[in-house]
Amino acid sequence: MTEMAPVTDASTAAPAPAPKQMVLPDAQTVTDVQHYTDRLFSFRTTRPASLRFRSGEFVMIGLMGDPDPKTGKQKPLLRAYSIASPSWDDELEFYSIKVQDGPLTSRLQHIQPGDQIILRPKPVGTLVHDALLPGKRIWFFATGTGFAPFASLLRDPQTYEDYDEIIITHTCREVGELTYGADLIESIRGDEMLAELMGEGFHEKLRYYPTTTREESPKMGRITDLMRSGEVFEDLGVAPLCPENDRAMICGNLAFNLELKDMLEEYGLEEGANSDPKQYVVEKAFLD
Ligand SMILES: Cc1cc2nc3c(=O)[nH]c(=O)nc-3n(C[C@H](O)[C@H](O)[C@H](O)COP(=O)(O)OP(=O)(O)OC[C@H]3O[C@@H](n4cnc5c(N)ncnc54)[C@H](O)[C@@H]3O)c2cc1C
Ligand SMILES: NC(=O)c1ccc[n+]([C@@H]2O[C@H](COP(=O)([O-])OP(=O)(O)OC[C@H]3O[C@@H](n4cnc5c(N)ncnc54)[C@H](OP(=O)(O)O)[C@@H]3O)[C@@H](O)[C@H]2O)c1
Repeated sequence: MTEMAPVTDASTAAPAPAPKQMVLPDAQTVTDVQHYTDRLFSFRTTRPASLRFRSGEFVMIGLMGDPDPKTGKQKPLLRAYSIASPSWDDELEFYSIKVQDGPLTSRLQHIQPGDQIILRPKPVGTLVHDALLPGKRIWFFATGTGFAPFASLLRDPQTYEDYDEIIITHTCREVGELTYGADLIESIRGDEMLAELMGEGFHEKLRYYPTTTREESPKMGRITDLMRSGEVFEDLGVAPLCPENDRAMICGNLAFNLELKDMLEEYGLEEGANSDPKQYVVEKAFLD
């Protein structure tokens, strides 16, 4: 039986919305938006067919800026963003702060599915597997939105192929700021497609260590302090880091990056780069 098409009165029916035009340079369309707190949200966009990137890299994204009062011309307002989706994903994902008076994120936080953003398709960055020498265990150390590049790397099969154990630590001020990361870890553990790609039981290699500093949670404290006291190693039942076995990637605020970098050097690890792979790499989650 064929279904009847609904009868509409042409004189009262609302006009069909006009298809959105690709008016922005390097435009991509937003496909999904999730809000976590009044300071954090994530969104997904279409991916340019030609965009190739390595999990952990960042790109410049943004919106058109306000018109210049003199010339009326608009320039793109761009900021660095880690790609939070893995390199095999058909779409791109980003995990973002909302800075209420931030030039970009005061506006970006209001995007909706169907809207467009600008994406410059030139991925770069140091948080890539190529910048590390082979090792047994990898540590991903994040604060705040510094979780984003690890959201990509944690969904990359190479992470599980290259290491026996993957430890992700995430330190935030408040419990609600852990949600994006906690949900992602949960989804990785239950993802059948990832299990098919990476092998059944791959997620047993993954250890998640969330901590908060300003709101009560099961594990409180800065990760740096928990390492100094030895608590994190006791909790996880692993030895402190050593240059033979351990590799690390750091992504957080500047003070955290510098403090942890010094600590890793004290453990005997050396900083690597794309052109000179070593035992750890570091990248800012934001400039300050
Ligand atoms: C390599 C790199 C990668 C980055 N990746 C991301 C990412 O994946 N997600 C993301 O949200 N931001 C990321 N940032 C920061 C991002 O580029 C912008 O700073 C941020 O989007 C705010 O833009 P804005 O124009 O609203 O404010 P801005 O003028 O850029 O920043 C205003 C102030 O807000 C604070 N701030 C900015 N970004 C953050 C943040 N992420 N977390 C906490 N405080 C912040 C700082 O105090 C800063 O001085 C990255 C920065 C760098 C350098
Ligand atoms: N509601 C608001 O308006 C609001 C709320 C939060 C933040 N902010 C502002 O937003 C900006 C970013 O805040 P954020 O919370 O995303 O990032 P953040 O200040 O970098 O803090 C993220 C986490 O990193 C920890 N940390 C900071 N320095 C460290 C170090 N040297 N070693 C180890 N851990 C360290 C913090 O612990 P500590 O808590 O011990 O510092 C916190 O748990 C700040 O400028 C802040 O003033 C605004």
